[in-house]
Amino acid sequence: MSGVKVRNLVKKYGNDVTALNHVNLDIQEGEFFALLGPSGCGKTTTMRCIAGFETPTSGEILFNNQVINRLPANKRNCGMVFQSYALFPHYNVFENVSYGLTIRDFYNGKLGRKVSSLARLLSRRLAKPPKHIIEKVTEALEYVELGHLAERGTNELSGGQQQRVALARALVMEPAVLLMDEPLSNLDKKLRNTMRTTIRKIQQDLGITTVFVTHDQEEAMSMADRVAVMKDGEIIQMATPTELYSNPTNPFVADFVGSSNIFVGKHVQSQPDGSLIKVENFLLKSSFNKEEDSLHVLIRPEGMNVYAKDSAIQAENKIEGKVKMHTYLGATIRYDVQVGDREIGIEKTYVPGERVFHDGEEVWVTVDPERVLLI
Ligand SMILES: Nc1ncnc2c1ncn2[C@@H]1O[C@H](COP(=O)(O)OP(=O)(O)OP(=O)(O)O)[C@@H](O)[C@H]1O
Ligand SMILES: [Mg+2]
Repeated sequence: MSGVKVRNLVKKYGNDVTALNHVNLDIQEGEFFALLGPSGCGKTTTMRCIAGFETPTSGEILFNNQVINRLPANKRNCGMVFQSYALFPHYNVFENVSYGLTIRDFYNGKLGRKVSSLARLLSRRLAKPPKHIIEKVTEALEYVELGHLAERGTNELSGGQQQRVALARALVMEPAVLLMDEPLSNLDKKLRNTMRTTIRKIQQDLGITTVFVTHDQEEAMSMADRVAVMKDGEIIQMATPTELYSNPTNPFVADFVGSSNIFVGKHVQSQPDGSLIKVENFLLKSSFNKEEDSLHVLIRPEGMNVYAKDSAIQAENKIEGKVKMHTYLGATIRYDVQVGDREIGIEKTYVPGERVFHDGEEVWVTVDPERVLLI
């Protein structure tokens, strides 16, 4: 197992493309670390530099505090899982998973083992796999719950099963670092959720340092110990999922991680317990203070409440609004409400029997000062 550090990593393609612009990461041993960001932000490039498939323009990569820039990819002991499963179609499940071990035997074994490895690579009928390979492959297949399909051809598997084979193939090598690049994006939503749990459980059982690339914020937030949000080749914020959600340091992060209402605001007055902020044409009380002329105000949809216009509700922040649309989402109801010139999203837990506000209805929107975040 290895901790991974990335220091001032720069990767340029020609003179025009700076794919990575001074990226710094400090991934702890045994940590599940997600790289999250929109298409083209440099996630795969970061991953490929860590794996050794890409040479950095400048900067350092360290495994266990040792610089490994010059170490070739096959010596880095990284397991890789890709979006396209990249399985060998002419091999069955067992052979796909045992492939890396067979190659390793071929390079590292004594003459007899070299010969039998080579024979096995040419055709399964020429030689049986040795006991140590059978044991390791069986164990890896058990982990991904595919023990019963060892003899299946890979073209006779579902997408989820193929992805499990790809995962077993990486795990069987007992890699120091597991690198996964959008491994779930080809699966349907339900399968994706199941695989999230499977991968997270295996990662925790084995305590394997894992870097997981995704552009799906829900995936990153639900699986990772920590998340680095990337944009245009730079790390914008690196934090635990809860920190990212509740304390984004940048409007881009606030918008990318979870849904949000973001306003441009202006500091009006500091107060002992926070501040007054002018947003649009109304004043909001925030529990936070940031004495800046121009700032961003973030209010999460679940941070607001909706009340009937005729109710005598008392609140520090109480604004008039008009419901544009209401949508049942099962456990919650979403209201899109016109407030001044803006439309905002509000999400409320749906309590059966509780009053539902209809489209066109005038309402009060309230928000607790604690929920008025300043960025
Ligand atoms: N071989 C290459 N030559 C030139 N430009 C490249 C090369 N590989 C990547 N890039 C550019 O570097 C930037 C980062 O690409 P990268 O593949 O790391 O993005 P990504 O975050 O993985 O995106 P996606 O979510 O679409 O996979 C992009 O602008 C891309 O066009
Ligand atoms: Mg990519």
